[in-house]
Amino acid sequence: MHNGAMDLENAVSMEVIREAFLYQNKFAGQTVVFKIDFPVTETTGFSYLMKDIALLVKTGIRVVIVPGSSEYISRVLYEHNITSTFAEDERLTAASAMQYVEMAAFHAATHFITALSASRVEAVIGNFVRSRGRGVVNGLDYGQTGVVDKIYTESLRRILDAGMTPILPCIGWSPAGKPYNVSSTGITLAVCEALAALKLVIVTTDCAFSSPDYSTPPGIERNGMGKIVRLTPQEAREILRMNAKFDQKPVKNAHNALNLALAALQTGVERVHIVDGTEEGVILRELFSNLGAGTMIYAGEYDAIRNIRNSDIPDMLRLMEPLMQKGVLIRRTAEDIQQKKDDFAVFVVDGAIHACAALHSWGEGQAEIAALASDPMYSSMGAGRRLVGYLIERAAKQGCSRVFVLTTTTHDWFEKLGFHEVPVESLPTAKRQRYDRKRNSRVYALEING
Ligand SMILES: CC(C)(COP(=O)(O)OP(=O)(O)OC[C@H]1O[C@@H](n2cnc3c(N)ncnc32)[C@H](O)[C@@H]1OP(=O)(O)O)[C@@H](O)C(=O)NCCC(=O)NCCS
Repeated sequence: MHNGAMDLENAVSMEVIREAFLYQNKFAGQTVVFKIDFPVTETTGFSYLMKDIALLVKTGIRVVIVPGSSEYISRVLYEHNITSTFAEDERLTAASAMQYVEMAAFHAATHFITALSASRVEAVIGNFVRSRGRGVVNGLDYGQTGVVDKIYTESLRRILDAGMTPILPCIGWSPAGKPYNVSSTGITLAVCEALAALKLVIVTTDCAFSSPDYSTPPGIERNGMGKIVRLTPQEAREILRMNAKFDQKPVKNAHNALNLALAALQTGVERVHIVDGTEEGVILRELFSNLGAGTMIYAGEYDAIRNIRNSDIPDMLRLMEPLMQKGVLIRRTAEDIQQKKDDFAVFVVDGAIHACAALHSWGEGQAEIAALASDPMYSSMGAGRRLVGYLIERAAKQGCSRVFVLTTTTHDWFEKLGFHEVPVESLPTAKRQRYDRKRNSRVYALEING
């Protein structure tokens, strides 16, 4: 292999490892709830998925599993010649069907026990849900369908403290011990709230998020495979509205997951990840990398541009080093950056620095954009453009009428942002005096109006 290619591969894998450690550190001791829909347990990828979940448990993440068993229960009832009746997506459970519902719910849960046993992770199927009957609503008798009354939080905590993984089948019990069929969605939300979960991961299949026919508002980021990468709650609601008239299975699956995600954010969960359980390694890629593999719905801030802190300098130098070696950027030391600390800004994604740049003021109404470096692993994701846009705004606020940049190889990129080539003579005097004739950089500038 060519040395350069090997260096790049090395740099990329180091970056992935670094990022994974960063996230692992952030998640250790935190609770992540997994709602895993039934068809996933039937796929060949299920054992890999569970191996990855077992790995999370072993690294100190507190995992709770809620099997989504509705489809499986329908199948078992059908096999026993019992017709499933639903009202607004909720099953009406006749007393005569309840024994089969319990059987199916517990059987679905044992799939997880079996898979976790293979990775030597201890798991417990338990009665952690107190329930009450839904009763008769608008004349409709829900029979033994129940709602979550309470989660036995202390019992769950004890299980988690012991390093075990609780699995909650979709059954709840009244204080008198009567079983009810409770929706896994209701259990998921109640558990997220009771345990103050950091994340909810919805593992499903056949979701419309990659479909080009699935309408999205402008500006929604899709990955190379066309999958929606990230959504704010407002964007998720807009998508639900735009696609409300479609009822094909992938759209229904997507909407069930989005509705659950929005409800989970209301319980205080920071991020919900919707992943396709049939894609190998999807959990690790989604949780431990900013590149993601699923669709994240997030409340609050995900990426941001901010001033730098001393602790950012090593990461900034790491981004700049290959460019300084190639001569694209002039060499700067930690001390150089430290001295001009207030000039620099970084583009941060989930706590990791993806790009940096500086704005140096030279007087005469002109400021220079310099030391721009974007992480090649995250190229073409808009970090460079957003950072430069931010610095242009900063220059305008400082009263500058023009920003300029000295570049040897990036002039095309700056042209796309509206910069145009100007003579060296148009630089402010102090900068002109320092202009390195040997380096022979081109000067590009952007006039700022008002
Ligand atoms: C130029 C740079 C900042 C872009 O970073 P980024 O985070 O990928 O930026 P964006 O996502 O906003 O822009 C990416 C687009 O610019 C294009 N691009 C990247 N480098 C380019 C270059 N030298 N010339 C022309 N276009 C370029 C990409 O192909 C991509 O195009 P696309 O959106 O059509 O796919 C980054 O490549 C970099 O760090 N370059 C080296 C440092 C440098 O030259 N600094 C300038 C001197 S101060």
